Amino acid sequence: MAVPFVKDWDVVQTLGEGAYGEVRLLVNKKTEEAVAVKVVDKAKAKDCIENVKKEVCICKMLSHPNIVRFFGHRSEGETQYIFLEYCSGGELFDRIEPDVGMPEKEAHRFFQQLIAGVEYLHSIGIAHRDIKPENILLDDKDNLKISDFGLATMFRHRGRERLLVRLCGTLPYVAPELMSYSAFHAQPADTWACGIVLTAMLAGELPWDQPSENCQEYLDWLEKKVYLTPWKKIDAVPLSLLSKMLLHNPEDRITIPEIKKHRWFSRSFKSGVKRQSDAPFAKMHRADSEISQLTRKNSDDRAQISSSQPEPQGLWEEREVSVCSDVSVSFSQPACPDHMLLGSQLIGTPGASQNPWQRLVRRMTRFFTTIKAEPSCIALRDACVAMGHTWKQSCTNQATVSTMDRRNNKLIFKVHFLEMEERILVDFRLSKGDGLEFKRIFLKLKQKLSDIISNQKVLPMT
Ligand code: ADE
Repeated sequence: MAVPFVKDWDVVQTLGEGAYGEVRLLVNKKTEEAVAVKVVDKAKAKDCIENVKKEVCICKMLSHPNIVRFFGHRSEGETQYIFLEYCSGGELFDRIEPDVGMPEKEAHRFFQQLIAGVEYLHSIGIAHRDIKPENILLDDKDNLKISDFGLATMFRHRGRERLLVRLCGTLPYVAPELMSYSAFHAQPADTWACGIVLTAMLAGELPWDQPSENCQEYLDWLEKKVYLTPWKKIDAVPLSLLSKMLLHNPEDRITIPEIKKHRWFSRSFKSGVKRQSDAPFAKMHRADSEISQLTRKNSDDRAQISSSQPEPQGLWEEREVSVCSDVSVSFSQPACPDHMLLGSQLIGTPGASQNPWQRLVRRMTRFFTTIKAEPSCIALRDACVAMGHTWKQSCTNQATVSTMDRRNNKLIFKVHFLEMEERILVDFRLSKGDGLEFKRIFLKLKQKLSDIISNQKVLPMT
């Protein structure tokens, strides 16, 4: 589909930012249709042009309900534009509550759609190579859409498979065979990453920093110590699937056709009716032949909370998101309780009838304060400093906070202060590091500042 260019479109918001450039939300002036545009700045990366060409070439091949739709691309001087389906449900990542995950039923549905998308990609010979919750988006009906084909590659052409050698992706999601120097099959590596995504959805944490022998959590997994976290939080049936998806040897790893036959994948979650096994903890003790082979015992040992930290710049993608501060937008406050970083901030019906503001991506890491911008900023600064974080004010309405997470990995996030209808919106965006750790810190700060946080909900502008 050819998309008329920006003269008929308003640039409403920056949806995401990365090493390549940024993704912006465009809303059609007449029809109010929304599309996302990935803006790639050639100056930012030397090999960028070849990468963008490859990404566009791959995007053109794709057509599946669980893959972000590609509308077209355009080159203007130093800038490349890639037009994509806008996913108003935001990232899958934002549905994962740190340390908890999400209801198994929800994870099951997302996982089925993820596998459908990956199966499709593999059927046409494409490997994604960077499957992670940040690259999985949701539409207005919570349908899962795999996005970001910047690292994707063709591993099969005219029936002939090509082995891969390049180490790419994000360390906590990469398969162990990528850590060695030999060539590897593309498909089992994507399957592995889907297993890590499933773990994150079911337990709200990543199992290890990287699948290597110098990582204790990975060694524990190899020794089948499933009485440790995150495994002890996961029901026996999905855990039996994970034990097959996260097999060290790619030759032994479960394939997608086999995943589809696994009883957790193919089970149904009846709406409203709770099976006994769905009740927390009752499920932990059900006999399971595969799991009984794993050593599951009661223990209070908690492995250190896992976090992800992409590798140093260059090889690994860096994630940075920001918000456009020059638009006056009215956001609604999260509807869900604080401990659930899952709430929808979108009210209204999907489609062209929707108010463009209502289409803004769900965001949980923000709040309104009851006091003015300056004291809000001071209160947040003091809370950050008290928690041992480094606070750097970049301009009047923005600050950068740097810290080390629980695993001693670097974590950087930005805070914007936006005046909206006489209140201050404090918006937090992750720049670098593990998103789950970021959310944990956000919640701690929110708790510390509860005295100045407004509970009042704001309706979107009409
Ligand atoms: N962030 C990155 N790509 C996006 C898209 N297509 N829709 C919504 N948010 C995004």
